[in-house]
Amino acid sequence: MSEKIYDVPAELAKHAWVDQAKYKDMYARSIADPNAFWAEQAKRIDWMHTPTRIENVSFAPGNISIKWFEDGILNVAHNCIDRHLAKRANQTAIIWEGDDPSQSKHITYKELHDEVCRMANILRTRNVKKGDRVTIYLPMIPEAAYAMLACARIGAVHSVVFAGFSPDSLAQRINDCQSKVIITADEGLRGGKKVPLKANVDAALAKADGVDWVVVVKRTGGKIDMNPTRDLWYHEAAAMVTTECRAEHMHAEDPLFILYTSGSTGQPKGVLHTSAGYLVFASMTHQYVFDYHDGDIYWCTADVGWVTGHSYILYGPLANGATTLMFEGVPNYPDNSRFWNVIDKHKVNIFYTAPTAIRALMQSGDEPVKKTSRASLRLLGSVGEPINPEAWEWYYRVVGDDRCPIVDTWWQTETGGILITPLPGATKLKPGSATQPFFGVVPEIVDADGKVLEGETSGNLCLTRSWPGQMRTVYGDHARFEQTYFSTYKGKYFTGDGCRRDADGYYWITGRVDDVINVSGHRMGTAEVESALVAHEKVSEAAVVGYPHDIKGQGIYAYVTLMAGVEPSDELRKELVTWVRKEIGPIAAPDQIQFSPGLPKTRSGKIMRRILRKIAEDEPGSLGDTSTLADPAVVDDLVKNRQNKK
Ligand code: PRX
Repeated sequence: MSEKIYDVPAELAKHAWVDQAKYKDMYARSIADPNAFWAEQAKRIDWMHTPTRIENVSFAPGNISIKWFEDGILNVAHNCIDRHLAKRANQTAIIWEGDDPSQSKHITYKELHDEVCRMANILRTRNVKKGDRVTIYLPMIPEAAYAMLACARIGAVHSVVFAGFSPDSLAQRINDCQSKVIITADEGLRGGKKVPLKANVDAALAKADGVDWVVVVKRTGGKIDMNPTRDLWYHEAAAMVTTECRAEHMHAEDPLFILYTSGSTGQPKGVLHTSAGYLVFASMTHQYVFDYHDGDIYWCTADVGWVTGHSYILYGPLANGATTLMFEGVPNYPDNSRFWNVIDKHKVNIFYTAPTAIRALMQSGDEPVKKTSRASLRLLGSVGEPINPEAWEWYYRVVGDDRCPIVDTWWQTETGGILITPLPGATKLKPGSATQPFFGVVPEIVDADGKVLEGETSGNLCLTRSWPGQMRTVYGDHARFEQTYFSTYKGKYFTGDGCRRDADGYYWITGRVDDVINVSGHRMGTAEVESALVAHEKVSEAAVVGYPHDIKGQGIYAYVTLMAGVEPSDELRKELVTWVRKEIGPIAAPDQIQFSPGLPKTRSGKIMRRILRKIAEDEPGSLGDTSTLADPAVVDDLVKNRQNKK
């Protein structure tokens, strides 16, 4: 752990929204009187009816209920667009930067309004109503933003599925929330390569029922099949509708979106976020964490298929009337200077990316960075996984020229917005630490038995209080919501993360303590990869664990037991990797596959993952007690044939 401390730059503190004294004061108020604090924050958005009831939350076993601003009425799209029109009609809302560096465009708030209304009218005229679910399976093109905001405008609930997911994963998500409409594109474009989105939708719909319409955006013009009774071209439908569309009056607790995320067991869960609390929290965190000021150009490199894209490309920035950059491409195309060239091209002031991208770019040295200017940059951000101090220092020194603070923001799909983070004008930085809780957030570190640990310590991270951006339920399965987040430690929300608190009260997230792994900042349940592997006809059993990976943070290590009579081979290894890519998507492809005749099981048949993790980490010397195994001899074979020898 690095113990270097970086002070708040004096110049920045002078102009920042929050300095150290203000952080202390606001934090104390947010804890002492949450109702007064959040009532004040609710004023940052426009209401059709101002809420009088602020927090109504129970974390009590058997009665998990989370409501914020519950008698308020609002429309999220109105807040992200219409209310800015008087002052910002001609200001750029979205800068779109294409995969090909010669393609980019500016979309003003007025244009955003018109396009969102068109998309909303297309949905409305196809009978999509308040509460109906719409699945969005789009690349990073402006229509993804139009589609999400169009749903918000008419009160439909969007479920964005990352465009890297397979037809099976898409079908499963369509079925789970019973979407009536899918919005997709002919093909996506990333790093010069085409992604067959419409063909994937066709394949998914062979396995999903209840979809009436597929709206297809023309992105590449590639050849696709169109089903005349189900599919329609977006550009043709858009030409038939007007640019005015009434914004639905929504209750604060009406659902805004569902986003599927991986857990330690079973299939991905539909994390449900509602309207008002989510928006207030996304807007507030965007303003304070990124110290966003009017006129700043802000760029978050995430994909809208993940929560970071929802909260910090779209909803937070647009609620604040910001200019937000949306990037279709990848960091290393056409070359490793792409991020920095985009920063120079659009004069980006605030840049928010993931450690995995930083580590990958760091590998090609300083030159691709140093040949660009980056003079516009004022602030850097990191999200998605722990950032190792070496990557942090490189980001600070090489990318930020020792000038820009880094906000290392810890949060989750479930939390809706950032919960533990520096505030750039208030918080001294320690490389690798997410530092301090945001307003209203009360972290607690507990041991395995739930005992609360005080002072300098490490253990499991819980949150004892609700905040407005918290997820409300697992879509269609409230019991699973309670079971997953509130049953390990009764009366508090368990994050699934391990955490250390140092002597200064700084928080250091150490990674997941459950069977979730974080691969290049993408969350993956080991159980999902296992069930994909055992679905292959030659596989009888599989166990998947994470292991440290220089660039991805964690890699996927799969132990595979083959059916009797099947011989292990490198070909079969490749076949299984391809299989998982096809079953789930490329992000789930195993990095290592070890063929293992047996797995270490207890006498009651439970796989001892602790042992598998140590072998995958290439630490066979610290396996611990193996005497409780049904057959301790399996371990020798596993150790001998491990794939990741240093
Ligand atoms: O383990 C933590 C890690 O990412 C998990 C949440 O993943 P997801 O829901 O996909 O959301 C990612 C974007 C918010 C967390 O449980 N994580 C996220 N941010 C950090 C982090 N770990 C360490 N430091 C962070 N800044």
